[in-house]
Amino acid sequence: MQDQIAALEQEIMATTLADAAALEVYRRQYTGKNGIIAALFETFRALPGPEKAAIGKPLNTLKQLAEQKEREARESLAARQPLKDQPADLTLPAAPHAQGSRHPIYDVERRIIAIFERIGFTVADGPEVETDWHNFTALNFDPGHPARDMQDTFFLKPEGMDQEYLLRTHTSSVQVRVMEAQKPPIRILSPGRVYRNETVSARAHCYFNQVEGLCVDKHISLADLRQTLDYFVKSIFGPQVRTRLRASYFPFTEISAEMDISCLICQGEGCTVCKHSGWVEIMGCGMVDPNVLANCGIDPEVYSGFAFGMGVERIAQLLYRVPDLRLYSQNDIRFLQQFARIQ
Ligand code: PHE
Repeated sequence: MQDQIAALEQEIMATTLADAAALEVYRRQYTGKNGIIAALFETFRALPGPEKAAIGKPLNTLKQLAEQKEREARESLAARQPLKDQPADLTLPAAPHAQGSRHPIYDVERRIIAIFERIGFTVADGPEVETDWHNFTALNFDPGHPARDMQDTFFLKPEGMDQEYLLRTHTSSVQVRVMEAQKPPIRILSPGRVYRNETVSARAHCYFNQVEGLCVDKHISLADLRQTLDYFVKSIFGPQVRTRLRASYFPFTEISAEMDISCLICQGEGCTVCKHSGWVEIMGCGMVDPNVLANCGIDPEVYSGFAFGMGVERIAQLLYRVPDLRLYSQNDIRFLQQFARIQ
């Protein structure tokens, strides 16, 4: 009987079950109620005890093997069946899609732009690889001006080219390009990535994003700057947030200021985020220096303007309390999934 079991095993392994008819023949022959395996079990039951012990195990193995082969063949035939022959439940809900979320920097940049668009600003674009003229010289940074060191710059010298380029350190370079190409009135935003040669840490990065703004027309005054930025701050952070201007220095603005807002965490009471001052800095701003207008072909006797520039990461950090700048560029899905879902 052992030999018979071994032979059957070989036979079953060698059988191919290509279609439903072959499967039915197989079932009748081996696994069915009147098949060989059932018959062998009949014989087995009648055996005397000692012989049973030797046969039981191989016989069971054979049964399992045969049944497994039948099951697998049945499943693979069912999978190959045309869809229209299969019973389908059309009321089943669709499988859920994995849904992405907008990157917080992109999202905040869009919010900033939308606020300024409501008061007539449009978006201007410019290259990230810039000339010294657009990034520095036209903006009143003399060669050797110490302010050039305020923004540690990545310089590029493409092989075979005489001119040196740089990665823009701010998007004020786009403002120069717009003023060179366009006559006032000008009201533009220049959003985009900027680069500075800084050691990457929780508080500094070698690249980040800015939205800068420029408004040039007749009779533009500091009051226009103040009102525009107040409107922006209240729109993005809420009507209860207060602003103040603090004197500062930029080569391309005269006068120059930093805008602070009342601390969002402690509402001005004093906490660790605002270093107990009640205020946090959000952007640089000022009246465009007449030299800059002249450098770009705009008559400073006729026109005046204001400009401002903010870091998008900084605004996002204040809105979302992001503790470490590096999180923005690490693409950790657990971080990114916390932000606005794509609508
Ligand atoms: N360009 C400045 C910076 O990157 C910001 C700024 C823009 C300041 C416009 C004043 C006016 O730091």
